[in-house]
Amino acid sequence: MLRKLLIGTALATSFAFSAHAADVKEVQMLHWWTSGGEAAALNVLKGDLAKEGYAWKDVPVAGGGGDAAMTALKAMVAAGNYPTASQMLGYTVLDYAAAGVMGDLTETAKKEGWDKSVPAALQKFSVYDGKWVAAPVNVHSVNWLWINKAVMDKIGGTEPKTFDDFVALLDKAKAAGVIPLALGGQNWQEATMFDSVVLSTGGPEFYKKAFNDLDDASLKSDTMKKSFDNLAKLVTYVDPNFSGRDWNLATAMVIKGDALVQVMGDWAKGEFHAAKKTPGTDFLCYRFPGTDGSVIYNSDMFGMFNVPDDRKAAQVALATATLSKSFQSAFNVVKGSVPARTDVPDTDFDACGKKGIADLKKANEGGTLFGSLAQGYGAPPAVANAYKDVVSKFVHGQIKTSDEAVTELVKAIDDAK
Ligand code: BGC
Repeated sequence: MLRKLLIGTALATSFAFSAHAADVKEVQMLHWWTSGGEAAALNVLKGDLAKEGYAWKDVPVAGGGGDAAMTALKAMVAAGNYPTASQMLGYTVLDYAAAGVMGDLTETAKKEGWDKSVPAALQKFSVYDGKWVAAPVNVHSVNWLWINKAVMDKIGGTEPKTFDDFVALLDKAKAAGVIPLALGGQNWQEATMFDSVVLSTGGPEFYKKAFNDLDDASLKSDTMKKSFDNLAKLVTYVDPNFSGRDWNLATAMVIKGDALVQVMGDWAKGEFHAAKKTPGTDFLCYRFPGTDGSVIYNSDMFGMFNVPDDRKAAQVALATATLSKSFQSAFNVVKGSVPARTDVPDTDFDACGKKGIADLKKANEGGTLFGSLAQGYGAPPAVANAYKDVVSKFVHGQIKTSDEAVTELVKAIDDAK
């Protein structure tokens, strides 16, 4: 559908701008980085581009996981109004590339040696048909717990190593009158948490089969049912006002000590960083219990469109700045993510960042690095959306039992495939 919608406009745009005007010294960027931590990270990029004489034209569309941003992008592209670049997740990049509207950064990539420094797991989504169509910005990982240290001390908690340990810890918080689990009741947040629950419940092989290979038997299995049971258990620790809450407000509950823990991707750490909180002293980062050794990842990519010639220099400047080693360190320290290149020292990263970098390396080498289904790296957008919808209906009681949830999940994924 995307393809049909876009092909006509791709041709229209390339004819409309064939004149060779002077290069436009402006980067127009569509993104969903609107929280405090995200805005701070984006400022690093704006600053680097300003030094090169590029003005910043911001197109922010709030909403983690980028669903709203992707709706806005579709409208812009359909109107032939391509941004210089757009923040995008995995399979969305490939969809637009297949629709023929992406640019070609291969020359820059060759000059900068990206094929040697960017991990294969990211090249799978930034290179299409032999051409670089996107610049990877970072690697995020979703299977984390973010814990308020003072609350943890108060309740005498220790790192939960298993799902049962986690439940016992949440019980302690509850008994102490603290909200145990900070969650934002939006489908992408619920599904992002469920990614971790499935990895913890079924183990690495199961996660891969179910959420990357979309293996029918795994999706239908008792292990998937047990995963929904575990999710239901977690939801009993959430406060009654969680519906619709933004993810960064849930993080703020942990930062302030109103809640013990949030299960969220490491963009949450960007909020702790922006609030000047230190790992080990103010907060703790642990892998989601039972998932140590595996990493469920996503990566923000700057997808580059086939813009008119006078805007291509801005794209090259943006892509070059994005993948420079100094930016990869400076930006990711603030963003909470880890570098999209394997040759960036971890010196400037805090303890959680250092752990993130080490975990990624180990998972990559050990075959336990998996794309997040909730975050656009497990399967194409239609499947991911079907998944988010079922998980959310279950969390909000529209789907009542785990058996029903499994049936609905299998059906929704089948229909979306
Ligand atoms: C993106 C992160 C972003 C988060 C919350 C994720 O989809 O990958 O960069 O911080 O959404 O907005």
